[in-house]
Amino acid sequence: MGHHLQGIPRSPRVHPPYALQTGDEGVSLFGNLLKLKDARSDPDQKWLRGLVRYGEMATARVGSKTIVFLNSKRVVGVVSHGHSRSLLMTQEKWAEPRRIMHTLLSGTAVKQYGEWLETESAQMLAEYLLKPALWYRHHYRYANSVVHRIALGERLAKSTKDLEDLQSLVTVFVTTTGSSVVDWFPALARLPRWLQPWQAHWEKLDRWNYDVYRSWWALVLEQIRRGTAPPSFARDTLLHGDTKYTGSDDDAMYVAMQLIEAGSDTTREALHIMIMAALEHPAVFARELLRWRPIFVITPDHVASQDIEFEGYRFPEVTGFVINAVVVGDECDSPETFGPDRWMDGHETDIAHGLWQFRGGRRICVGYRLAQRSMFINIARLVQCFDFKPNGPYNSRILSLEATDEPFPVKVSVRSQAYAELICAEAERLGVLEDAKISRDEL
Ligand code: HEM
Repeated sequence: MGHHLQGIPRSPRVHPPYALQTGDEGVSLFGNLLKLKDARSDPDQKWLRGLVRYGEMATARVGSKTIVFLNSKRVVGVVSHGHSRSLLMTQEKWAEPRRIMHTLLSGTAVKQYGEWLETESAQMLAEYLLKPALWYRHHYRYANSVVHRIALGERLAKSTKDLEDLQSLVTVFVTTTGSSVVDWFPALARLPRWLQPWQAHWEKLDRWNYDVYRSWWALVLEQIRRGTAPPSFARDTLLHGDTKYTGSDDDAMYVAMQLIEAGSDTTREALHIMIMAALEHPAVFARELLRWRPIFVITPDHVASQDIEFEGYRFPEVTGFVINAVVVGDECDSPETFGPDRWMDGHETDIAHGLWQFRGGRRICVGYRLAQRSMFINIARLVQCFDFKPNGPYNSRILSLEATDEPFPVKVSVRSQAYAELICAEAERLGVLEDAKISRDEL
């Protein structure tokens, strides 16, 4: 018979490997909530790493919710791919946008959009050559432009203000997800409105989010309706008659715009980490970057839609599950060592094999194949053409993600005149050299 998980277990320790965690002695319900909040910003992720002492699965009460942290590759693997796969399913609402976005994972899409990656990457290299001190801004332009083109069809031609608005939106989204009291005490959402003083704040954010999205989307929608839009995910999949998308016009806008958000900030950050790795370790490979310095320490929990039996344990419906990505990433020999060759296991061409940075199962990152290709092209080219040296003191665990600040001091220099010529010739051939030269205010 399995154990029943009911509220906070009386005893903090059950038999290994599945111990149930209550939070440290004397810590209230808010204790874990605060720890979870701190865990997001702690560069050493002490609290998350500490959860392994409770076993492969650690249960914490966070607010009124029960969250199970999956602390080993083994349980994450079983849970994501095995018989209990429904564990990572979520509400019905998610199914329709996911159906539409799923085409992005297909080989055809990756091939079709691959050309755009090449063009944008050629421009990024030319920008690196022309404005090496602004290396970090080139990452954002590249990442945003690629996914903007995939989603909406146009190369990025936005003002600094537009880009800053979108960047602020992403930052607010990432830092506020899971920070509302209602996230952790869902029953509060059923109170009368006057008893929910936080509502006005979230509604204001929501409105701002809507307006920023609308300012990017309206033009594209108009072009699609008039039949003048260039090829894109929005034109050829999302709003295409054959797809039979059942969402409203606003729903479609959220699908397209979230793609831009999800695809640009991650790629930008991965490229920053690659530069950090280039300073710390001369040999670099994509997958090890993400294990070494995970981009997403905690992602929102996935909630069980029905009771689940798993290896003798019974988890009631509504239990939330979170992959403890830091701990799972550390499950290898000498985790602190940057060791790309640990991935030479016959699965080198599949970035998601054995790496949980894109999570897994049905909700696996929809852009991971594009991200893999995008990172491969750019890392290979940057390492081939440029040298990166520290340009002052830095902490390799801290990465500022402000769009306008250099995240850590780097001196970038092209490796030879021959490479400089090659970069210019390639950018010219693809028609992006002039764009790279344009000295916008923000560059
Ligand atoms: C290094 C790059 C990237 C990393 C580390 C990454 C990681 C992730 C993670 C951890 C999730 C959450 C999965 C879950 O809920 O279990 C996610 C979701 C998502 N990602 Fe990525 N991602 C990356 C690049 C991209 C790119 C390039 C795109 C777009 C082309 C993209 C689009 C999305 C979307 C739309 C979702 C939501 C999927 C859904 O709701 O079903 N991501 N990503």
